[in-house]
Amino acid sequence: MTAAAKKKQPADLRSARWFAPDDLRAFGHRSRAMQMGYAPEDWVGKPVIAILNTWSEAQPCHMHFKSRVDDVKRGILQAGGFPMELPALSLSESFLKPTTMLYRNLLAMDAEELLRGHPVDGVVLMGGCDKTTPALLLGAISMDIPAIYLPAGPMLRGNWKGKVLGSGSDAWKYWDERRAGKISDDDWVDVEAGIARSYGTCMTMGTAATMMAMAETLGMSLPGASSIPAADANHIRMASESGRRIVDMVWEDLTPAKILSRDAFLNAITVAMAVGCSTNAIIHLIAMGRRAGQDIGLDDFERASRKVPVIANIRPSGDKYLMEDFFYAGGLPGLLNEIHDHLHLDAMTVTGRTLGENVKGAEIYNTDVIRPVSNPIYKEGALAVLKGNLAPDGCVIKPSACAPKFLKHTGPALVFDDYPSMKAAIDRDDLDVTEDTVLILRNAGPQGGPGMPEWGMLPIPKKLVQQGVRDMVRLSDSRMSGTSYGACILHVSPESYIGGPLALVRTGDMISLDVDKRTINMNVSDDELAKRRAAWKKPEPRYERGYGWMFTRHIKQANEGCDFDFLETGFGAPVAEPSI
Ligand code: FES
Ligand code: MG
Repeated sequence: MTAAAKKKQPADLRSARWFAPDDLRAFGHRSRAMQMGYAPEDWVGKPVIAILNTWSEAQPCHMHFKSRVDDVKRGILQAGGFPMELPALSLSESFLKPTTMLYRNLLAMDAEELLRGHPVDGVVLMGGCDKTTPALLLGAISMDIPAIYLPAGPMLRGNWKGKVLGSGSDAWKYWDERRAGKISDDDWVDVEAGIARSYGTCMTMGTAATMMAMAETLGMSLPGASSIPAADANHIRMASESGRRIVDMVWEDLTPAKILSRDAFLNAITVAMAVGCSTNAIIHLIAMGRRAGQDIGLDDFERASRKVPVIANIRPSGDKYLMEDFFYAGGLPGLLNEIHDHLHLDAMTVTGRTLGENVKGAEIYNTDVIRPVSNPIYKEGALAVLKGNLAPDGCVIKPSACAPKFLKHTGPALVFDDYPSMKAAIDRDDLDVTEDTVLILRNAGPQGGPGMPEWGMLPIPKKLVQQGVRDMVRLSDSRMSGTSYGACILHVSPESYIGGPLALVRTGDMISLDVDKRTINMNVSDDELAKRRAAWKKPEPRYERGYGWMFTRHIKQANEGCDFDFLETGFGAPVAEPSI
């Protein structure tokens, strides 16, 4: 670090307020640091770097964080910083119920307040499993001290009888095969044992891989970091490099506000389209954009989806490759360089250089995995935003991952009022359903779910599965896993639980979908809808106490990013630094 690059001096450090003064409070902080075995040589004149670690014993995707944090600390120490590991809520997509989305904002608050309350100057954010990435970034954006995001990285490819298995996607696929009697119970057990065989996140282009790529594109991770498989030694070196880099970022005073411009978010949206992103990316990017003071909305996704093709041939949009293949093919830097015409290359990043400088010359080593723009896997972007009398504030579909014949479709609704009644009915032999039916699930949104669970890929009714049907139109106010696929219309806003038009649909109503025209409508007259609205009764509140009570009162709708209103940046005056 040259003196010129150094914008801060030791006396300017935030942590110096705790450690430097000759007073009784600072005596307490120093003596308690010494209680932990540290000497003044450990902290005097050094940036204190928080490491927000989302490791837990209920978090298979972050198993390696227990030791990886030591690699981060090594880097921080090498660069002259003082590491301080702070455990944060872990949000395991696999185990936490009813859905991690209920708790994304809780981790965001956890992250923000951990940083505010402790004597820290900068932070390494360790996340990866779905909601952990946006949650940590939301907290860091609101706190706005120098921050670098360390992605957990994807797990290795799954393997069963020599076949490659992809997280989520192959679970749904082989579950249907089993329901259709095509594979045995023993096969199913072997799939279970082979599908997740190393630490790291889901290795399809699910929400985890998408959001890690978004963090890197936004400029919040080291170049290439998000594509490295968790179990690759490159991941260890990236971890210690992140530790070294954050120390310099503190001296340079390179804060999230200096990185997260509107252009940075437009870049992320562009890349979301090009990688065939998870639909969850929309909600998280809108929330992060709003926190960063950038006006990001569904229209930005819609514009990008019309012009950016899907070039990452990764499942579930692609047909065979996984994140490990993506890394070997050149990873995100290769992809960014390929679509550089669509990007704002002068966006700043954690390296202190622009995105364009970071990816210049990045190569692609396998043009079937990362396709040239001239030979995409899907001509338009991964997502389409639909509007109409069923979803006045919008809903989304992932056309790149559904059967093309459903992109324009009219069919009769079969409505389920909640998840348990859907589950009880879906496999009945007498269910009145054909391939043309539009399956509808309501009361599954932010308030209704509650927490907007990933129920949106409604199961294909068993009698249709046995006839060979593998896709049909499904519509809900819930989300779906980024590893899911099919003609699923999601995030219908406003949700039914608060009286959105979805609450008024009845079984037998004709539903029309036209992805090209971006429309979704129920063919029911306005008069009839007004009658149904008059008869609609507001459901009982879901919670009478606790976190859920607070959630219910403050959660925003999907098209607004599902943040809590009081966490949004414009809600009130900025929070002051704590008194010491
Ligand atoms: Fe953690 Fe998929 S379950 S990333
Ligand atoms: Mg998921």
